Amino acid sequence: MSVSVLSPTRLLGSAAGLLQVASLLALVLLLLKAAQLYLRRQWLLKAVQEFPSPPSHWLFGHIQEFQKDQEIQQFQKWVEKFPCACPRWMWGSKVIVNIYDPDYMKVVLGRSDPKNPVLSRLLAPWIGYGLLLLNGQTWLQHRRMLTPAFHYDILKPYVGHMADSVRVMLDKWEELISQDSHLEILEHISLMTLDTIMKCAFSQQSSIQLDRKYQSKSYIKAIEVMKNLFYSRVRNFFYQNDIIYSLTPDGLRNKWACQLAHRHTDQVVKLRKAYLQDEEDLERVRRKKKLDFLDILLFARMKNGSSLSDKDLRAEVDTFMFGGHDTTASGISWILYALASHPEHQQRCRQEIQSLLGDGASITWDHLDQMPYTTMCIKESLRLYPPAPIVGRELSKPITFPDGRSLPKGIHVSLNIYALHHNPKVWPDPEVFDPSRFAPGSDSHSHAFLPFSGGSRNCIGKHFAMNELKVAVALTLLRFELATDPLQVPIPLQKLILDSKNGIHLLLKKLV
Ligand code: HEM
Repeated sequence: MSVSVLSPTRLLGSAAGLLQVASLLALVLLLLKAAQLYLRRQWLLKAVQEFPSPPSHWLFGHIQEFQKDQEIQQFQKWVEKFPCACPRWMWGSKVIVNIYDPDYMKVVLGRSDPKNPVLSRLLAPWIGYGLLLLNGQTWLQHRRMLTPAFHYDILKPYVGHMADSVRVMLDKWEELISQDSHLEILEHISLMTLDTIMKCAFSQQSSIQLDRKYQSKSYIKAIEVMKNLFYSRVRNFFYQNDIIYSLTPDGLRNKWACQLAHRHTDQVVKLRKAYLQDEEDLERVRRKKKLDFLDILLFARMKNGSSLSDKDLRAEVDTFMFGGHDTTASGISWILYALASHPEHQQRCRQEIQSLLGDGASITWDHLDQMPYTTMCIKESLRLYPPAPIVGRELSKPITFPDGRSLPKGIHVSLNIYALHHNPKVWPDPEVFDPSRFAPGSDSHSHAFLPFSGGSRNCIGKHFAMNELKVAVALTLLRFELATDPLQVPIPLQKLILDSKNGIHLLLKKLV
């Protein structure tokens, strides 16, 4: 009996039968998936029918419209053709409605739609569910808990830390240009802004810029890798599934880079916790009227009395470590490039700063409000090169825009800040660098200029950021004359943060 059950012909027969059933099941699943995608596409087509866009392929969406690394430039043509908003098909069953009109922005930012869940899912393994990705009540609790870390009493002394970090970088530049006046600045500025956030928010004592062995450089490299991979994953249909992605070379690299970045942030938390083990130090920090960012997190008691979990703490540290340095690095680099491209404005800023600071030996909080022309140039540069070019939401309920067009619940929208800032209907001659757009008294729409977004989910670090931009620009202009390198003109690249395809190269001349 047992022999006949295990006979090779029977086994083969049952294996073939199993295979047949499995193939049939796979086919049914495939058909069901295809039907689901078809129905989803039909629903999306109907949902966005009031918003015209260039014809798209039923499977590949608008992929052919966008050459790699030319998205910004190509999207700009759509902005001119399709007023206010335009759907972009990523592939057959995924569409994102880009909006770039101030009235449209105002309506969306006045609501409390959650972040785009797809983008959040892709970002979460890196920065976790911290303030940037949280939604609803937990977001509100964290926002209330962290807002005091940006009180002006806390921000005031940071100006000194910022100036110290900038000076370390400028000293390095002086050494470097003694051999060659040409410099790629983005990398140096990233290390400098990381140095600043480490000192201000994470109580780091010494300058990481001076420590040659310091792992910050590998942290910055890891961030670079993750930003690039994030950008390519968002656009790749096959990379959407977590399991499939984790098995690809990109997925493996992403995992490696995440681990590297987390090692850096873990180390920062570990050091601070170790410092607070000492009773005296703990008491000293407790007695402070206003706590630094990391100390707020470490002392935090949520409403129910429990501490912030290790996971939540890590997410906030990762969020602020990244959000607090990469955005400002992009901002400062593009501002310096804009000033290098416009020597007349550069000189006017320099004169303003020289008459305010003399040789710049000391720069304080009080100085920052006394550089109106420099501030206008900074704002004009943030308009042309917004460091956070796109912000994503998922509509939690139907929306109707001022012109009567509407979108249903569930649609993903991108608040396209870059396109808004370059929209010729909002900013005449948008490509022209014209700081007078921000002269006192000039009137523009409340939602025409949104480098820090708006509404309740605006940037919590915007005052910190503006201070850092002013300190960096002021001290740099006192030390160097900046010119562009005609052989290496930067090409803006829209990633998570506004990047340049080919770095940001300047020619520097030391001022005597
Ligand atoms: C020039 C520099 C900066 C720019 C242009 C910028 C821009 C933005 C934008 C556009 C948002 C909205 C994102 C969204 O809704 O998805 C945002 C949110 C945020 N930013 Fe910034 N940011 C800058 C600097 C900073 C700094 C220095 C910090 C921290 C020290 C920071 C921390 C955050 C956080 C935590 C959020 C999430 C806020 C929330 O949802 O409650 N940012 N930022």
